[in-house]
Amino acid sequence: MKQQRILLIIGGGIAAYKCLDLIRRLREAGASVRAVMTRAATEFVTPLSVGALTSERVFTDLFSLNDEQEIGHIRLSREADLLIVAPATADLIAKMAGGHADDLASTVLMATDKPVLLAPAMNPRMWLNPATQRNVAQLRADGVHFVGPNTGEMAERDEAGPGRLVEVPEIIDAANKILAGRRGSPLARVGARPLAGRHVLVTSGPTHEPIDPVRYIANRSSGKQGHAIARAAAALGARVTLVTGPVSLADPPSVDVVRVETAEQMLHAVQAALPAGIAAFAAAVADWRTASAPREKIKKSGAKPSLELVENPDILATVGKSRSGRPTLVIGFAAETENVTSEAAKKRKAKGADWIVANDVSPSRGVFGGDGNTVHLVTADGIEDWPTLSKDEVARRLMLRAAEFLRHSAAAAE
Ligand code: CTP
Repeated sequence: MKQQRILLIIGGGIAAYKCLDLIRRLREAGASVRAVMTRAATEFVTPLSVGALTSERVFTDLFSLNDEQEIGHIRLSREADLLIVAPATADLIAKMAGGHADDLASTVLMATDKPVLLAPAMNPRMWLNPATQRNVAQLRADGVHFVGPNTGEMAERDEAGPGRLVEVPEIIDAANKILAGRRGSPLARVGARPLAGRHVLVTSGPTHEPIDPVRYIANRSSGKQGHAIARAAAALGARVTLVTGPVSLADPPSVDVVRVETAEQMLHAVQAALPAGIAAFAAAVADWRTASAPREKIKKSGAKPSLELVENPDILATVGKSRSGRPTLVIGFAAETENVTSEAAKKRKAKGADWIVANDVSPSRGVFGGDGNTVHLVTADGIEDWPTLSKDEVARRLMLRAAEFLRHSAAAAE
């Protein structure tokens, strides 16, 4: 906790009094504590006692132009290493899950780029209410941390169940774990939005190459990995263009999506989207298309058709080997069923890529359509074997590594 800056958001609940002890313990452990109190919280403990313990002025929800001019909610939320919400009431949790910002506490929580730890406390029925559980699941998916609640007697007589605020040492323990994890994480090295100001171009999904107006050549790609990369890049602050073949996935939020069908259309869309700092080619582009696709449907009653195939343009190789406007980092994928890493290393050179993300797509691996992926990152420096991860986590790690790569190449150029 030494020298860590904690922003404590105190919600309105009977357990708010425990915050006084929490502040004392956090400070004993070496942290500095700044407090924001909701209007309801001030009904349970006074800003005066909170301020006496933090040795700092207390920020309340009673809107004050002075507060805003002196420090501002953005600074308040950023000048901290960790935000702790205790007690996190059903109302605060619902506001956070819904993205509301109608008072100081919720605005600070919306504006922060730091980890957030919630210590919920409420009546067991309110905790178990499907709306609260939905909100908690949403916040967990958004990366918010939780400690508790504990199960036990409540302030109201005859009410027992989950909903008690955890004890102060448990909150400190959870806070320590988050801060320790953060110090060792790549995010701690590169910042929370390391791709801000960058353009990231991603291809995803299969391509469909028409045989006639109703039939096409396709492959088993679901687009999950490519879409996850676009999502991860946007979450890390990049402007993202996603060029995708036909998939049944929702568009990732805050991403420009360009929909195409064929490899040739994908190449044109990619070229139109350049320049980009990073280009990740996760699409499973069909290697061949039919030499010509008749305008009319091929009838069964006619002569048995034979397909004449011609090779499609290789989009990765076209961009990887281009002399002008080449992205600083070109990432290809290699879907292999044997000799995974040696084939990938060959592809890296042959296609002019900086990195190849290689994976084993043997049917037994369940990569196609599945949510997990075991990949190897092939770079000029060698091969890294990554553990089996969700496609989202592969995407996040890849984009964090990409951010570091750009940072180093910018430093080398200076
Ligand atoms: N790729 C591409 N355009 C193509 C074919 C492939 O951009 N016409 C890209 C893919 O998006 C991927 C990489 O090249 O990033 C490797 O794709 P893969 O299908 O594994 O390689 P191929 O070149 O098709 O080789 P092969 O199928 O013979 O293994």
